[in-house]
Amino acid sequence: MGNNRTSIHGQWTSRTVFILAATGSAVGLGNIWKFPYITGENGGGTFVLVYLLCIALIGIPIMMAEIMIGRRGKQSPINTMAALAKEERRNPSWVWLGWMGVAAGFLILSYYSVIAGWAMSYVFRTAGGMFLGVTADGANSIFTELVSDPERLLAWHTIFMVITIMVVARGVKDGIEKAVTLLMPLLFGFLLLIVIYAMSTGYFMDGIRFLFTPGPIDGKGILIAMGHAFFTLSLGMGAIMVYGSYLSDQHSIAQAAILIALADTVVALLAGMAIFPIVFANGLEPGAGPGLIFQTLPIAFGHMDGGTLIGVMFFVLLVFAAWTSAISLIEPAVAYMVENKGYSRIYASISIGFFTWFVGLGTVFSFNIWKDKTLTIPFLFEKLTFFDTLDYLTANIMLPLGGLFIAIFAAWVMREQSTREELATFPIIYKLWRVLVRYITPLAVMVVFLKAVGAI
Ligand code: PHE
Repeated sequence: MGNNRTSIHGQWTSRTVFILAATGSAVGLGNIWKFPYITGENGGGTFVLVYLLCIALIGIPIMMAEIMIGRRGKQSPINTMAALAKEERRNPSWVWLGWMGVAAGFLILSYYSVIAGWAMSYVFRTAGGMFLGVTADGANSIFTELVSDPERLLAWHTIFMVITIMVVARGVKDGIEKAVTLLMPLLFGFLLLIVIYAMSTGYFMDGIRFLFTPGPIDGKGILIAMGHAFFTLSLGMGAIMVYGSYLSDQHSIAQAAILIALADTVVALLAGMAIFPIVFANGLEPGAGPGLIFQTLPIAFGHMDGGTLIGVMFFVLLVFAAWTSAISLIEPAVAYMVENKGYSRIYASISIGFFTWFVGLGTVFSFNIWKDKTLTIPFLFEKLTFFDTLDYLTANIMLPLGGLFIAIFAAWVMREQSTREELATFPIIYKLWRVLVRYITPLAVMVVFLKAVGAI
């Protein structure tokens, strides 16, 4: 290949391990917690269609670009951007793209950890039999009671940050490889079990119709669908890039990207198929917001045979899925501090983890004492809490913007020869990729941005 760099952080044992780790990053709360509730809030069908289109036309090409850039640079995204800009004799200020990614990962993790904390607390609620025979109202008040207690949220948020730091401090390879290989297939199996329960509610087809029948959507809905395509595939902030930097040179990138995107999409669709039939069977509101899965799934667990065990396993797996994503959110920053500041992994993980934890307090309070403290976001004309603001800013603005610049860097800044050599794929696939990242992807992101602010 065109360079003889090696990563100081180590290398994945095989391509399969890379695919599993990247899938571990992609599959997380985004698929199971976020996808259903934003689909519910944005009317279903058309939202899902726009999301799927974004995965295919924007997500997969950018994922290939991120893996490619990461593997070529073999350093943290910040240093990789600097090294490649230099190698291609381009403007050194491309390095800020790495910095924006680090900032986005930091902000996302701060609230991600709080929601993962909800899932942790649900492991114990389910195990204690709290949901046996539960009604929709009962499930709702159990959820409300949890989120209105800042102390409890804080405790779970703290525990989740601690376990994330523990894995990152040990090095990504030892920690992640093991967890992911075992847990991802299990999560898939448990989701299937819930889908089977959803089929028995008599409302399965209503759920399917909601997910796949086109309906009205506005510019903001389209932006949220696109933002979610980035969020769910972990794109636009360097998570996939940093994992790509641990991938050895002889492995093909295109196929890996397609497999990762496919696995991620299937998990999200399964989650939708599990949740919406339960929503309709119990007369619940699809647009119930961030509490949606916590208000619906317990009903399934409370009414199916072996529901307590299945429920406990399910929330345990959800916590693992969140964990493997959280690790990738903090890794770019940790890798950078190890490379440039000479800090040990342990020190870097703890210090970044501490600041993330601190910012997470804002999200903890967003559901209780700061519930009514809201900000008005430009162009949105809506009042958002601290949590909603962070979520909106990161998923709908920072990640698509990061992705847009990654596409521009891969397709316009890097020489064609470098990308062809690094991707080393069939000529037709290379051509298709290049047309997509060069024209379609940047155009699509810009059109969606303009539409969201009402400019077109
Ligand atoms: N993809 C993860 C999820 O769906 C979240 C994530 C976003 C992880 C960005 C890393 C980077 O839950």
